[in-house]
Amino acid sequence: MLAIRLVSGPEWLDTLVLPIRPAGPAEGPDAPAALVPTTPPAPGDVLAEAGALLPAARLTGRAGELREHLRPGGTPQRLILLGVGAGDEPGWRAAGAALARAAKDETQITVMLPAGDPAALRGLAEGLLLGSYRFRMTEAGAKPALTEVDVVAGDPDALAPTLTAARTTAEMTRLARDLTNTPSSLKNPQWFVEQVAAAVAGQADLRLRVRQPEELAAEGFGGILAVGGGSASGPRLVELDWHPADARTHVVLVGKGITFDSGGISIKPVPAMKLMRKDMAGAAAVLGATLGAAALRLPVRITTLTPLAENMVSGSAFRPGDIVRHYGGLTSETTNSDAEGRLVLADAMAYAVRELAPDLLVDLATLTGANAVALGKRHGALYSENDQLAADLLTAIDAAGEHAWRMPLPADYVEYLGSDLADLHSSPEPAKSVTAALFLREFTGDLRDRWVHVDMSAPSWAEEDDAELTRGATGWGVRGLLRWLATL
Ligand code: BES
Ligand code: MN
Ligand code: ZN
Repeated sequence: MLAIRLVSGPEWLDTLVLPIRPAGPAEGPDAPAALVPTTPPAPGDVLAEAGALLPAARLTGRAGELREHLRPGGTPQRLILLGVGAGDEPGWRAAGAALARAAKDETQITVMLPAGDPAALRGLAEGLLLGSYRFRMTEAGAKPALTEVDVVAGDPDALAPTLTAARTTAEMTRLARDLTNTPSSLKNPQWFVEQVAAAVAGQADLRLRVRQPEELAAEGFGGILAVGGGSASGPRLVELDWHPADARTHVVLVGKGITFDSGGISIKPVPAMKLMRKDMAGAAAVLGATLGAAALRLPVRITTLTPLAENMVSGSAFRPGDIVRHYGGLTSETTNSDAEGRLVLADAMAYAVRELAPDLLVDLATLTGANAVALGKRHGALYSENDQLAADLLTAIDAAGEHAWRMPLPADYVEYLGSDLADLHSSPEPAKSVTAALFLREFTGDLRDRWVHVDMSAPSWAEEDDAELTRGATGWGVRGLLRWLATL
């Protein structure tokens, strides 16, 4: 990962980046973009040169806009004018990502920020670290990449905690992206377990428990066993606990961990199956958030549960028409083995409610294609009975640069969950994302009003590079969860 250093003044000037912003209303409609003042200011000759460039440069100053100016033989040799828009965190985040892409062949650059502006620093750092992410599996040598960014942003000591928060957030988002991008030929449930074990190795304050299929059977995790039954790689349940002494609140995070979703006997058609290695993005996100919270020593207890299974087609696969007995005893009738996510989540949630009795329960899942039908490519669908909790999470998600939209849990849709044979019907046809949420709600017990579910199928993946998102897995959820956890 690229190194970002806080320095009190430019030290080694090869490439210098100066922020620019759109002209304000007082400056008139045709006024050129303006330099953003920094402390200390850039060297006088450079500032004068940049100022002289602006009127003719046709720059708007919008976030992520970028113009290079070469100064052969000069110090610096290269000047980059970087649009930061409103100069707020989203503006700097987009700017950081654009810079990471434009400067990818440089080795070292220096960026000047307005002094003492933590939001600018956080945006820039996360933009740089996330925009420079790449996932590749090849023996070919990596191309040279930007390795060091010096940031001049005021008192380095005062800003160090902000940089640490940004770095941890980005590092955990990148971990979630790596896990989600990994092909399912490598990524079976046991592989995921090994990644968790490696991440927590040597950290005595993180307790890890992994349930094997025999233990899942002995304790009655019927949903996880049914979904995992068709695969040569058996299911697992990861339980990871961050329990600091000063914790005031206990949160359980549950993440859907289907390491590949073929649909099972109700098999998916080719276009719908090709990206189903990403069906553990919820598990990756809650893992990243938990590891991040531990790294930042947030004073909140977090127990993270990731039910892990591969939904495959075979002679041992579960069948449409089967009835599953979930943890705690509720039964569900399956008519579509492709509605597997809610079956594994139901077990983990019922376990959390009964055995862990937390204060709050949050689950993240790539649960339905309907998420994208309703909300497009960037917004998760957020469900909760609790207005305050929903608002708090939406605020944190938005502040972190992710997006979600609240969805209803209508009372008159509950009848769709009716089954003649079992307590619940697991895959009603209408309003697929909504009825999936209503199904999960049946497993929240006493935590019904302290539960949030996010269907994140859509924002878990990006089809193309877009600001801090890079093509492929986005790591959606790590950033928003970490912001929210930091408020508890
Ligand atoms: N993993 C899929 C949902 C999904 C779709 C995630 C597209 C990411 C992108 C999930 O298991 C699924 O198959 N859901 C079904 C539910 C239906 C059978 C009730 C769906 O969305 O069609
Ligand atoms: Mn499915
Ligand atoms: Zn799935």
